[in-house]
Amino acid sequence: MKVNHAEITISAVKPEQYPDEGYPEFALAGRSNVGKSSFINKMIGRKSLARTSSKPGKTQTLNFYKIEETFYFVDVPGYGYAKVSKSEREAWGKMIERYITGREQLKSVIQLIDLRHPPTEDDILMYDFLKHYNLPTIVVATKADKIPRSKLQKHRKIIKEALDLEEGDPLILFSSETGQGKEEAWAILEERMK
Ligand code: GTP
Ligand code: MG
Repeated sequence: MKVNHAEITISAVKPEQYPDEGYPEFALAGRSNVGKSSFINKMIGRKSLARTSSKPGKTQTLNFYKIEETFYFVDVPGYGYAKVSKSEREAWGKMIERYITGREQLKSVIQLIDLRHPPTEDDILMYDFLKHYNLPTIVVATKADKIPRSKLQKHRKIIKEALDLEEGDPLILFSSETGQGKEEAWAILEERMK
């Protein structure tokens, strides 16, 4: 999809605030700093529509980005950020669970995992959570530009095996720096928004 128009519609913390056009939605899940906001920006070809930061924990609300009056990317606050209190973590969990488990428009969750490292315990818990609710998932392994080409497949296999990836859930090697994986990701999204 060639994106000419993208805008943030709302930063929501509760269901009453979610957009109501009924457009398909794709939510970005992943640990803090993995590259969720960067993924959105790269996909739509905008430098900084979704706010990115080298400081983890930048995204704190469910941010709905409307793309081409066609669908939404929903940027979700990252998990696994050590510097949040127990009550903040619980509030986060409730907000995410409410959105992810009760949203008819949600076509797939895009779960981002840092290709450089094996999935964390939180990554595995998140994937199991999504599978428990039968949510179609697209795994995007980020920061592929940081891995030598000769090692890409080895890293890919580690993620696939650690998650026990279900048949039908794609695993895309991606880089927001080089654009690797962008076309593959678009093809899958376009198929799933039908
Ligand atoms: P939170 O909003 O805190 O949950 O983080 P996030 O997952 O949205 O991460 P964000 O997109 O803000 O990126 C975090 C850092 O990683 C930034 O410094 C990005 O420039 C960097 N980054 C993201 N994707 C890539 C990538 O594919 N390659 C490289 N080299 N750096 C990346
Ligand atoms: Mg972010």
